[in-house]
Amino acid sequence: MKKDPIDVFDNWALIGRDERMAKGHAVSVKEMLKLAITGQKKFSFLDVGCGNGWVVRKMAKNNECLFAAGVDGSVRMIAKAKSVDEIGNYYCEDIRQWIPEMTFDIVHSMEVFYYVENPDTLIQNIFDFWLNPKGKLIMGIDFYYENTSCHNWQEDCGVNIMQLLPINTWVNFFRKAGFKNVCFRHLSVKEDWEGTLVVMGEKLT
Ligand SMILES: C[S@@+](CC[C@H](N)C(=O)[O-])C[C@H]1O[C@@H](n2cnc3c(N)ncnc32)[C@H](O)[C@@H]1O
Repeated sequence: MKKDPIDVFDNWALIGRDERMAKGHAVSVKEMLKLAITGQKKFSFLDVGCGNGWVVRKMAKNNECLFAAGVDGSVRMIAKAKSVDEIGNYYCEDIRQWIPEMTFDIVHSMEVFYYVENPDTLIQNIFDFWLNPKGKLIMGIDFYYENTSCHNWQEDCGVNIMQLLPINTWVNFFRKAGFKNVCFRHLSVKEDWEGTLVVMGEKLT
C-alpha cells in the first residue's frame, strides 16, 4: 500500500537518505537561490519542505538574509535539522494547513509542491498569507509531465500523492493565485532529462 509523502520522507531521514537527496538537488538549488536573491536586499527567507534544513543553513550565511527558516512535516527531518543547528528556525508543520506567524520576502521550495492534493490551494495560501508585499515565490520540481524519465517515480517511491502535471498547469496556478511576472525555466538539463522545472512569480499587489 502506498504511503503519505511525509511518512515516506520521515523514513528517508531515519535511513540517512536525506543527505543523498540534498546532494542530488544541490546544483539546481544553487541556481534557484541565485535567481531568488537577485536584486533583493535585507530579506527574510522560508524553505518549504526543507527536509534536513540544508538550504536554510546555506541561506542563513548570506549577509543580506535577516531571517532564514524552514518548514517540513517530517518529525525526523526537523529533528535532524535542529540537531546540527540548534539556533536555526525549523518548524514541523503540514504545509497543507499551516499559516506561518510571520510573512517572508522569499519563499523557496525544491521538490515538494507535487506532494499535496491541491497544489493550487497551497500556492494561493502562499500568495495570500505567507509572502510580504513584493515578495517572491520560487518553486523547483523534477516530477512534471514533460519530464518523461520521471513518470515511474510514484511506483518506485510508494507515495500515495504525486501530481504529474504539465508545465502550463503549474504556470497557471501561479497566475491564478495573483502572481505577476510569472516565468519558468529548466535547470540542470541532460540527455533524456528535461531538468528541474523552476517557476517564479512576484506578489506585486
Ligand atoms: C523530496 S523531499 C525534498 C526535501 C528538500 N527540499 C531537499 O531538497 O532536500 C520532500 C520534502 O517535503 C516534505 N513534505 C511533503 N509533504 C509535506 C507536507 N504536506 N507538509 C510538510 N512537508 C511535506 C517531506 O517531508 C520531505 O522532506
